[in-house]
Amino acid sequence: MIHGKDMTTLKNDRFLRALLREPVDTTPVWMMRQAGRYLPEYRATRAQAGDFLSLCKNTDFACEVTLQPLRRYALDAAILFSDILTVPDALGLGLYFEAGEGPKFHKTVRTEQDIAQLPKLNAKTDLGYVMDAVSTIRSALAGQVPLIGFSGSPWTLATYMVEGGSSKEFRFTKQMMYAQPELLHALLDHLAESVIDYLNAQIDAGAQAIQIFDSWGGSLAHREYQEFSLQYMQKIIAGLQREKDGQRIPVILFTKGGGQWLIPMLATGADALGLDWTTSLKTARELVQGQVALQGNLDPAILYGSPKSIERAVHAMLDDAYAHGEKTGYIANLGHGITQWVNPDHAKVFVDTVHEYSAKYLG
Ligand code: CP3
Repeated sequence: MIHGKDMTTLKNDRFLRALLREPVDTTPVWMMRQAGRYLPEYRATRAQAGDFLSLCKNTDFACEVTLQPLRRYALDAAILFSDILTVPDALGLGLYFEAGEGPKFHKTVRTEQDIAQLPKLNAKTDLGYVMDAVSTIRSALAGQVPLIGFSGSPWTLATYMVEGGSSKEFRFTKQMMYAQPELLHALLDHLAESVIDYLNAQIDAGAQAIQIFDSWGGSLAHREYQEFSLQYMQKIIAGLQREKDGQRIPVILFTKGGGQWLIPMLATGADALGLDWTTSLKTARELVQGQVALQGNLDPAILYGSPKSIERAVHAMLDDAYAHGEKTGYIANLGHGITQWVNPDHAKVFVDTVHEYSAKYLG
């Protein structure tokens, strides 16, 4: 049994055990974006808060929505309710959300001067509301399941900062990458330092595992992925506090669209790699040879299907995960965030089927 900073016994530690490739009684499962708009109770709390950012910045509301999916489903981990874009916001870009349009920034970062003007982040003060949320959620969980902290990768954060919001083509970021690579490197370096400070502060506040979301790493060409994304995630992992109160803090690296780069990812020192649904879990297990745990990778769109078809897809996923006689090193998840259109009852079928069917391999 694992003890936290408040010495509360962690009642369910199978998520941390699987990350560290220790034996587990059943497959741990959580869902990216498990607190979100598909849940009516989330929509109600967001309405009470006024808008999404107020939800993130109010400790009680952020704690409430973090716990909501845990009341409905037998999840094996909680994830801090916040957003990856709080970091650029704290760096002075002015984050806002326009209904139906996704995130936007008042300022963009495109010139040498823009980059030179970015302040040095002090996460404990500049993002104090996130740290308050982490410690409040950790106490409220009372050891029920571990709490995951997270950050965006430098590359993913840079795309939002350079474009000024969401993008499909990454026109200005890629222009900077090919026309003035040294500028982009300066920005990525600043972000890597900021993320190290941010994640270490989350660990100090009580986060028990960390996930780095490299949501747009998959848009990069082969060489550029290593140079502009992976290199900086490696730097972050090297700068993290890897132990707290005698417990290892596992790190999960998730590059969406990164299935072809699993071997180079092994060199980062991550404990686990997240996979999206375009990668074969069975082949990935063969490739990584037990050196890291794997997490994923059900297509979130499968949750639009019938309960029967969800069960079948989960069975096939677990058959792949344990195809080579493994007994651990696997965390079930979706291959990306759950969408707002999913029927909450279907998410329950996903979670329960993981636990039930994994007895075939772990029981
Ligand atoms: O997983 C969780 O439950 C924790 C909460 C979480 C959110 N965002 C809440 C959120 C996490 C881990 C994130 C990470 C995040 N945010 C990423 C990386 C993960 C990924 O999905 O690839 C990215 C790229 C963002 C940036 C971001 N935030 C976008 C593009 C959007 C709009 C997209 C949309 O779904 O509308 C957000 C807003 C956002 N972040 C919402 C939630 C629940 C929806 C906002 C709302 O309530 O209206």
